[in-house]
Amino acid sequence: MAPTTAELTHQHLLLHFTDMQAEIPVIVRGEGCRVYDEAGRGYIDGLSGLYCTNLGHSFGDELGAIAHAQMKELAYVSNWTLAHPRSAELGAKIASLAPDGLNRVFFTSGGSEAVEAAWKIARQYHAANGEPQRRKAIARKYAYHGVTLGALSFTGIPEVRAPFEPLAVPTHHVSNTNAYRHPHGDDPEALTAALLAELEEAIEFETPDQVAMVIAEPVQNAGGCIPPPPGYWQGLREICDRHGILLCSDEVICAWGRLGEWFGAQKYDYVPDLLTFAKGLTSAHAAMGGLLIHDRVAEPFMNGEVYMHGMTFGGHPVGSAIALGAINIMEREGVLDNVRANSPHVRARLEALRDIPIVGDVRGVGYFWALELVKDQATKETFSGAEADWLLGDILSDRMRSNGLICRLDDRSDPAVQLAPPLVSDIALWDEIIDIVADGLRYASERIPEAPKSS
Ligand SMILES: Cc1ncc(COP(=O)(O)O)c(C=O)c1O
Repeated sequence: MAPTTAELTHQHLLLHFTDMQAEIPVIVRGEGCRVYDEAGRGYIDGLSGLYCTNLGHSFGDELGAIAHAQMKELAYVSNWTLAHPRSAELGAKIASLAPDGLNRVFFTSGGSEAVEAAWKIARQYHAANGEPQRRKAIARKYAYHGVTLGALSFTGIPEVRAPFEPLAVPTHHVSNTNAYRHPHGDDPEALTAALLAELEEAIEFETPDQVAMVIAEPVQNAGGCIPPPPGYWQGLREICDRHGILLCSDEVICAWGRLGEWFGAQKYDYVPDLLTFAKGLTSAHAAMGGLLIHDRVAEPFMNGEVYMHGMTFGGHPVGSAIALGAINIMEREGVLDNVRANSPHVRARLEALRDIPIVGDVRGVGYFWALELVKDQATKETFSGAEADWLLGDILSDRMRSNGLICRLDDRSDPAVQLAPPLVSDIALWDEIIDIVADGLRYASERIPEAPKSS
């Protein structure tokens, strides 16, 4: 008998961030906003794969036909000293949707590569301007910016960094914007002021003219959908300008409609120098990412400086054709309007879950939401160690999956349930998701006395 997918996986794959001794679910098919396992059981794609299946699973025929036509016309030519129509058209399309001044794109195969590209252009830009000593970066605690060695330097998750330290880029990590965990969290203005003062202090500590780049997500994913307080991004912009530091908006998740705008920078009304994207660009129908570069930063590279960076598949014709097709579908189907129209309902329904004893905080924006879980709502005491593993891994994960929902049970900072379904999800699907989450959290709340004690 032919080996099963699970057997082949166990014999021949090394899965990403996966305990290979664990049981590994096998998904074989997708349709609409659901995916199906080998037994035909459907699950709501409650995290859009990894925040990337923004159009869900029903546009394979259309995007497949586009890919097929492109393969017949021109399967591959590089973007190393050569051009071809699709990546040029895609660059122009992205520039037309991006904030003013961001008019130039460097394509990559994914998000980590986009972040690497941002760092390398920042270094080369400063060197071209007579400041080669700008070699340090500022990022935020618990942020995920990818895992290739450059990007990993910016990632602020200790367990992910530890095996590979010391890392390539000297990076200072400052607080993220989690109001729920900040001493000034109840006062948005004071919170913004405190966070900006901390950033300023970090820059002073590192010596301002040695800092090349500040990188942050519009809404930070790891730690649970952490939005910025009012004025935060304007403050980052002002501080970076004052010190000659480039500001990079890492929008690998937040771009392409996740927050109800094409880009997160538009949601919060700022213009970064660099903007990284990937995932939703092709709605996950091809592996592609990129870096948007402000005209100001691109300037030396238009005047003789050669950007010393390139990857074989950057700007791949088939990926570019698929991305153009996916953006076209987003426009045709009114996907941003869908997110904007439904997110107030989502917010109201999720906020109502605060009556469940283990729900500490509810936060998010657009189609990007998290519920932070606590042992005690009054003290905000968190779950940690064996207790957190039990809550997320044994109780919530099993309960939600058996009720047909795939979402993320995030333990990278304080435990959180994360929801980010495809951007074509309607209110009925959100209601189904939230009912399953509510059931899971109530079920878990009742079982807390059975939890193993953390040592
Ligand atoms: C904000 C952010 N930056 C970078 C990355 C890395 O992207 P990739 O996994 O495509 O390399 C991710 C991945 O989740 C991300 O969320």
